[in-house]
Amino acid sequence: MPSLAGKTGLVVGVANKRSIAWAIAQAASNAGARLALTYQGERLEENVRDLSAGLTDPIVLPLDVTDDAQIARVFEEIDRSFGGLDFVVHGAAYAPREELTNPFVQTTRDGFKMALDVSAYSLIALTRAALPLMEKKGGGSVLTLTYLGSDRVFQNYNVMGVAKAALESTVRYLAADLGPKNIRVNAISAGPIKTLAASGVSGFSSILQIYRDRAPLRRTVETAEVADAAIFLLSEAGRAVTAEVLMVDGGYHATGM
Ligand SMILES: NC(=O)c1ccc[n+]([C@@H]2O[C@H](COP(=O)([O-])OP(=O)(O)OC[C@H]3O[C@@H](n4cnc5c(N)ncnc54)[C@H](O)[C@@H]3O)[C@@H](O)[C@H]2O)c1
Repeated sequence: MPSLAGKTGLVVGVANKRSIAWAIAQAASNAGARLALTYQGERLEENVRDLSAGLTDPIVLPLDVTDDAQIARVFEEIDRSFGGLDFVVHGAAYAPREELTNPFVQTTRDGFKMALDVSAYSLIALTRAALPLMEKKGGGSVLTLTYLGSDRVFQNYNVMGVAKAALESTVRYLAADLGPKNIRVNAISAGPIKTLAASGVSGFSSILQIYRDRAPLRRTVETAEVADAAIFLLSEAGRAVTAEVLMVDGGYHATGM
């Protein structure tokens, strides 16, 4: 496994032990990184504090990615404690439940704004705030999590698919902007995994079964497998990779019928 020894990272999107962001945090910590973790609201604070108790000297901070003041506070605190930042993992996504249940044509203006703000715009806001800290380190790596629903229609994924399309495009534009500063921006497109966010998509279990039946590896993927790919992109091993959407889905994306 590539090393992250001496590196510092911010991981956004840990809700519980099943979160993809938590698997990445564990793998990054095992690879030697010191981490800042955030939690969204008091509801999740205890979960994140309990989980991060097993990490080496972590910082744990509140962050709602729709709140610019909170974003500013998180990066001030990281700068004070770490004196710079090597990587950011962005694992925040949200759409109101009815948007993932009703027919897509019923998507509301408010639901659309909310989904795109939390799930796509936030990558721009976090990357902008990380920029001066990464410049202190001579570069950095930003990683987000996306899903094939950006490009193909999955029943009930709806506005989240539109948000993921915006997110993947955002990855490419940020990569182009920040490449000259040696800051890389990538996404992992993970296969479906039963997490808190996934449970909001109605009929999610049938998506899992279709992957088991049809993906070239004939199985779904685990959060630890997504995390291993994440460490590659966050580390020196991925130093020439940017503007990429790396598929970690057992090959499902390549299937036709
Ligand atoms: N589970 C899957 O099948 C799957 C597949 C591909 C991609 N993804 C993506 O992986 C990422 C992580 O999701 P997950 O499946 O681990 O589920 P999760 O529910 O564990 O994580 C989603 C996180 O988003 C956070 N979040 C939502 N709104 C927020 C806000 N306003 N401010 C800050 N944080 C906010 C939640 O607190 C939570 O920690 C998401 O981007 C998701 O779309 C998931």
